[in-house]
Amino acid sequence: MASKSLLPEINIERLPKHVAIIMDGNGRWAKKRALPRVVGHEYGVKSVRTVTEAAASLGVKYLTLYTFSTENWNRPKLEVTAIMTLLVRTIRKEVATLQKNNIRLRTIGDIKGLPTDAYNELLEAMKLTENNTQMDLILAINYSARWDIIQATKAIAQRVKSGELEVEQINETEISNALDTGHFPEPELLIRTSGEYRISNFMLWEMAYGEFYFTDAYWPEFDKESFYKAIIDYQKRERRFGKTSEQITDHHNA
Ligand code: IPE
Ligand code: IPE
Ligand code: MG
Repeated sequence: MASKSLLPEINIERLPKHVAIIMDGNGRWAKKRALPRVVGHEYGVKSVRTVTEAAASLGVKYLTLYTFSTENWNRPKLEVTAIMTLLVRTIRKEVATLQKNNIRLRTIGDIKGLPTDAYNELLEAMKLTENNTQMDLILAINYSARWDIIQATKAIAQRVKSGELEVEQINETEISNALDTGHFPEPELLIRTSGEYRISNFMLWEMAYGEFYFTDAYWPEFDKESFYKAIIDYQKRERRFGKTSEQITDHHNA
């Protein structure tokens, strides 16, 4: 591989504020090497560390990692247990690195539905890092976009029922704020690894105008340079939000 870094090609003035990643392909990465799937997840943690540090040092403000979906409970029990154990172990081990890099840990998803030790570990790490300001690392755990839309709908319905909100006041802002992702700006860029071209129940509302970037690399192979490459690709795109290209590039037509 060429040793020249892509870093100088990144325009720091035009970074996405929020990058989200569907970290996929741990199992296939392991299978290709005749290793158990769990080993793939362990190597996936290395990529988490690398990409988190790369994003934070670039100046990305929010990094969301799709860690465990509501659908992932349907995997073999042994794999689910192994992922949960790895989660606890990783958070315990990495919290010092988060502190060192001034990164605040957050989550989206129904974390109350996690095994107690995983839940407690997450709460503790979030508490410890709550005053950090360089970047928010948001783990989507026991998350799915439809789960989030349902819980947001229930919360809004409750407010209407109690008379706090009129039906006519329900708008995009109210819905965005009621979602678990409501604390964060919407991702401008969503990366999916492993050559799959689907969204797998992730950020269905938030990605209404987000940019997609797909790569064939399995998640354990995804490194700093792969991340830079995705950012550079994103920066070449023209985001039109329904307008014409002329309106975007020529301000007299706007
Ligand atoms: C992503 O890798 C990790 C999780 C979904 C937890 P996979 O485990 O889905 O890997 P593949 O898709 O089977 O290769
Ligand atoms: C999506 O990956 C979920 C996470 C990365 C946590 P999956 O591997 O579960 O997605 P599908 O089921 O193949 O679409
Ligand atoms: Mg997968």
